[in-house]
Amino acid sequence: MKEMLKTIEQNALQSIRNISDLEQLEKIRVQFLGKKGELTQVLRGMGKLSKEERPIVGQVANEVREKIEKELEKTKNALKTAQKDIKLKKERIDISMPGNKKVIGHRHPLLTVKEELETVFMNMGFDVVEGPEIETVYNNFDALNSPENHPSRDLSDTFYITEQILLRTHTSPVQIRVMKQIQSPIKIVSAGRTFRFDEVDDTHSPMFHQLEGLVVDKNITIANLKHTIDMFIKELFGSDMKTRFRPHYFPFTEPSAEVDVSCLKCRGEGCDCCHKTGWDMELLGCGMVHPRVLENCGIDPEVYSGFAFGLGVDRIAMVKYGINNIRLLFENDMRFLNQF
Ligand code: DAH
Repeated sequence: MKEMLKTIEQNALQSIRNISDLEQLEKIRVQFLGKKGELTQVLRGMGKLSKEERPIVGQVANEVREKIEKELEKTKNALKTAQKDIKLKKERIDISMPGNKKVIGHRHPLLTVKEELETVFMNMGFDVVEGPEIETVYNNFDALNSPENHPSRDLSDTFYITEQILLRTHTSPVQIRVMKQIQSPIKIVSAGRTFRFDEVDDTHSPMFHQLEGLVVDKNITIANLKHTIDMFIKELFGSDMKTRFRPHYFPFTEPSAEVDVSCLKCRGEGCDCCHKTGWDMELLGCGMVHPRVLENCGIDPEVYSGFAFGLGVDRIAMVKYGINNIRLLFENDMRFLNQF
């Protein structure tokens, strides 16, 4: 029996030394020490031994069990350490490697210009308000004194949603909303998208951006208008810039004017860009709010007066950055946008 125990010991130790993972190790434990294991089977047969033999064989059996258990434990620990080492090596982080850069977008040049314009006006005491891009025909045309037969009302010029609802053709309807709501005093600007049935070319797009300004109070005169526009242009483009007011017609202002500013390229000297005139043409439209428009909003034109102006944000962006094709602003080509 002693012989059998020794053989079991040898076999067990041999098997343990040959294994390479914890699962196999467990199998071996069961094979030798489990309930039906080889060692257990031998011990069951001890009942047949004589009294004298029993303690001796028992002692040997215990020694064998201890040896196997020790070897199992030792191997288990070694395997665990090895596994941990592998895991650590696999999961090692090289902190000297460059990180995963999150590519975040950046401001569109139009948004930058819009906010820059708003900031200039805020510094002059204007509030910034928003208006809807989908408007009533009434706010977009009628309330602004645009007669029924005005060409801009034509189906081929404007995106109508229904007979009474359209995509606003300018930001001027915001004037109507603000006047109706606040009455007076008013000093606001409002920028946003506007829509016209225009063919796309280098300077036209069916969707573009405008900024509208409106001031209403007692004793507002054309002097306030000219000063405000002049200050704004100097603030935006530099104090050497000049402004020139040319008489014009808008249904919602009387008198009305278009404003030219010194050519940004030559700053008024005269160059090829401005056809040697020294002026950049038609940068904005403006005028004194038409008495009928004030009346349409419930404001008494005998007591109150106001001025208004509107300018193209895309146009300003193009002049400012020297962009010669409006399409570039809407194509979202990263090679273009990344330059700003
Ligand atoms: N709404 C005009 C346009 O789209 C621009 C404009 C001109 C706005 C004169 C005004 C203004 O407020 O007074 O062409």
